[in-house]
Amino acid sequence: MDKLIIQGGHELYGNIQVAGAKNAALPLMAAAVLAPGKTTLSNVPRLVDVGTMGRVLANLGLEVEHDRDAGTMSLDAANLTSDTAPYELVKTMRASFYALGALIGRLRKGKVSLPGGCAWGPRPVDIHMKGFEAMGVSIDLDEGYVVADAANIHGTNFVLSFPSVGATVNLLLVAATIPEETVLDNVAREPEVTALVRMLQQMGATIEGTGTSTLRIVGTRDLKPVQQAVIPDRIEAGTYLAAVGMTGGEIVLKGAEPEHLTMVIAKSVEAGLHVTVTVDGIRVKRNGELRPVDVETAVYPGFATDMQAQWIALMSMANGASFVTDTIYPDRFTHVAELMRLGAKVTMKENVAKVQGPSKLKGAPVMSTDLRASACLVLAGLAAEGETHISRIYHLDRGYEKLEDKLRALGAIIDRVGER
Ligand code: EPU
Repeated sequence: MDKLIIQGGHELYGNIQVAGAKNAALPLMAAAVLAPGKTTLSNVPRLVDVGTMGRVLANLGLEVEHDRDAGTMSLDAANLTSDTAPYELVKTMRASFYALGALIGRLRKGKVSLPGGCAWGPRPVDIHMKGFEAMGVSIDLDEGYVVADAANIHGTNFVLSFPSVGATVNLLLVAATIPEETVLDNVAREPEVTALVRMLQQMGATIEGTGTSTLRIVGTRDLKPVQQAVIPDRIEAGTYLAAVGMTGGEIVLKGAEPEHLTMVIAKSVEAGLHVTVTVDGIRVKRNGELRPVDVETAVYPGFATDMQAQWIALMSMANGASFVTDTIYPDRFTHVAELMRLGAKVTMKENVAKVQGPSKLKGAPVMSTDLRASACLVLAGLAAEGETHISRIYHLDRGYEKLEDKLRALGAIIDRVGER
């Protein structure tokens, strides 16, 4: 297992290219299942989760080729040879559950392992199931697997009880193949969902309401394979934005989409960062003191839960107390105890972290617990005096492309070493 060693205390200067978004690439890959023939994706990030989804799809019979240097991926779904996504693959990544929507859409049946919990809580899939059932899909649970039979599938009106990203993706994958109207209400409006809507439209589905809470879909059994580019990763961009907030310096996030970061930018400006939109991305600069700013996570366009951990790290250096509340995942605070090992002063009350800044962070050995928690520790390590060792960094490889290379190019001193 690898670990990262960071010599903190260096300002960051320069440009980095923002990668394609993990959470957009995964649903687009699943959508390839719906169209017999070769789908081609570009701007596909080099990430472990993308590889996992590739294996889930290859297991169904797709021919998947990822050119990691070019960032392109072809997915040939001419012949499906299996209707099952096994536990061994699904347990490692929840988004593998998109295979269920894809299989129902293409084969009108599917057997996919229930994803189970994750590092910070149960993360249920009840909304996915209720939506499928509203479309006439019969769902059985058998030895940890969801077994779907969609022989009698039909269009429907379905209101999601919460605008879940995953449920919206899964239901869209199915609705795009039903040649009747399906109305999905209270859907997620995250840019990654909108990217999927656009791909399904290009493939031949009629979808009205793009980017809103209500989608009207008239699908077709004759979806065509398309070429599609993955949108830039707003969370990766936000993470580097927070990094320069902590270390000081000035960076340009090339290729970042400012519209997808409205809330993060607004909060960062409130905290004292200079953020400007350039022709090719976002420029971020910090040369003064940081002010404390409260955030409460919410569904898009609110403050993303995937930026909560990084915000706590940033606020540990702000001049005063701030409150960071996670309403999406109330238990997603495993990073707090590790961050405190580096000197942050945080007290938790239910899903609210009170961050008392400014802390003089000092390097220490810490442990990654999940993807965004790891990002938060990297940020703190970059700002801390002395050396920080972060172990179990395989979490980072799930969601940050070439993290050390990008940070090193900005002037950080960071190394990856093998750990026994
Ligand atoms: N929820 C339910 N029932 C469901 C589905 C969701 O109660 O059937 C609840 C969840 O427990 C949670 C909330 O709804 O409290 C939001 O969950 P959502 O379904 O929106 O999340 P997700 O689709 O499982 C995606 C991202 C996450 C990100 C969340 C929230 C992908 C592959 N994952 O997960 O990304 O945190 O949306 O924005 O898109 C990450 O990248 O680090 C990550 C965890």
